Amino acid sequence: MIRPKPLVAGNWKMNGLRASLNEIIKLNDFLVRSAPKCDVLICPPVTLISSIVQLNLEHVFIGSQDCHTNTNGAHTGDISAEMLRDIGCSHIIIGHSERRVGHGEDNKIVNKKATQAQTVGTTAIICVGETIHEYEAKKTLEVIVSQINSSIPSHATAENTIIAYEPIWAIGSGKVPTVGSVKEVHAVIRKVLVERFGNDGDKINILYGGSVNASNAHTLMSVVNVNGALVGGASLKADDFFNIISVYDQFD
Ligand code: PGA
Repeated sequence: MIRPKPLVAGNWKMNGLRASLNEIIKLNDFLVRSAPKCDVLICPPVTLISSIVQLNLEHVFIGSQDCHTNTNGAHTGDISAEMLRDIGCSHIIIGHSERRVGHGEDNKIVNKKATQAQTVGTTAIICVGETIHEYEAKKTLEVIVSQINSSIPSHATAENTIIAYEPIWAIGSGKVPTVGSVKEVHAVIRKVLVERFGNDGDKINILYGGSVNASNAHTLMSVVNVNGALVGGASLKADDFFNIISVYDQFD
């Protein structure tokens, strides 16, 4: 298969009411005028997904921030990957650190959820990242390799899988790792992906996430094996998010 385009993905987390649809419309208007060189995805809270899908936006993919490990059944309050696909999601974020830490989701659960996402035909964006303690103890690479090996289902392809490397200490903190560190971690992730998935492993997009903004996006997106960004806070406003997306206009 051909290499997928880079992806700039917005994770709105638990933010956004119906009034926020205006930001999406504004973003799409920007994209219509500029024809971006990357794919653009918004993962709003689940309450807004249908309304956004109904806008029939040409340039914005819509995704979810989580799904259940099962296809259906007695799981009050939960939502399956099949339901998300059914309402128009193309991507599902799996194993975000706020789910891993806040909801006790380990690699085994992440692997099951990713399998669900892939089975229904969506792309699983599987998140990995080290804590501040692991970072300070210089265990980043060890932790990431273990998360990659255990969280990614064995049938991963460049079509059904994207990896997001998000150091937990960089999320929402305004702190970002050095370029050297991002380069090293992404190179190791690429190596493991190629070892496990061969040619597809070489093409799976690896996003960087954690305090990405318009000022640091060019530097971060220029790093070898960084194939896009997973953006939290700076994805909520169309102007901020578009400034990050526009970084790709500066690349060949
Ligand atoms: P942030 O969040 O950009 O606000 O740091 C990123 C994320 O959690 O995906």
